[in-house]
Amino acid sequence: MRYGIISDIHANIEALNVVLASLEKENVDEIICCGDIVGYNANPDECVAKIINLGVRAIMGNHDKALIEPSEERYFNQYGLSAIRWQRTQVTPSHQKFISNLPMKLKIPGPNSHDGFQVAHGSLDSSAPFEYIASPMEAVRLSEIMSSNICFIGHSHISGVFSIKGHDDIEYQRGSYGLEISLEPGIKYIINVGSVGQPRDRNPQASYAIYDTDMRKVTIKRADYDIEATVAKVMEAGLPLFLADRLRIGW
Ligand SMILES: [Fe+2]
Repeated sequence: MRYGIISDIHANIEALNVVLASLEKENVDEIICCGDIVGYNANPDECVAKIINLGVRAIMGNHDKALIEPSEERYFNQYGLSAIRWQRTQVTPSHQKFISNLPMKLKIPGPNSHDGFQVAHGSLDSSAPFEYIASPMEAVRLSEIMSSNICFIGHSHISGVFSIKGHDDIEYQRGSYGLEISLEPGIKYIINVGSVGQPRDRNPQASYAIYDTDMRKVTIKRADYDIEATVAKVMEAGLPLFLADRLRIGW
């Protein structure tokens, strides 16, 4: 099986279209989204429609949750807040219903036990699903609750891979300019696939991953998209200028 793993689309339809086109070229069998279809940019309803129409298996991110549960807004900064409030008026009731039915995490079995993997937005910890896994300590903690060797995550918008051989033997590799990892038995991998629609690892290109279960290989890829088209829409929608500017620098 070849899986396309995407995350943090954040209503950026230009970036999503480019990533979906490359996944089609790459002949993936299934696409999985680690959350945050909405938030920040100007095309939330179009992005939800794409996910539904293509049968992408998605989980709920913190922005998806805030769209349907306004009490979640308390965790947002001013930029995220103005975007999600505007987006609530843009996403149709049936698409909001789709979002409200998204699961918080997934476990996908593989043909062999070591091929199976898990999917979370921030963490698999049900009491802290939107925790950021940014340090080796946080990665070890997550690895302890993994029931498979591979967990795909998003949330930080920073692509990279933690390889955990033991409590004091952890390697981190950045995915800012792409990365290829050959999976080895006995090692646990936490793979942040980065963000399709608002990368923050100083590379403005859209980020996504491919997991080939036969080759036992995960590849993080980056793709150019029409950033200025997205920027123009963000400004036209009257969203904060900062949300437009950050797309250009990937931060
Ligand atoms: Fe996000």
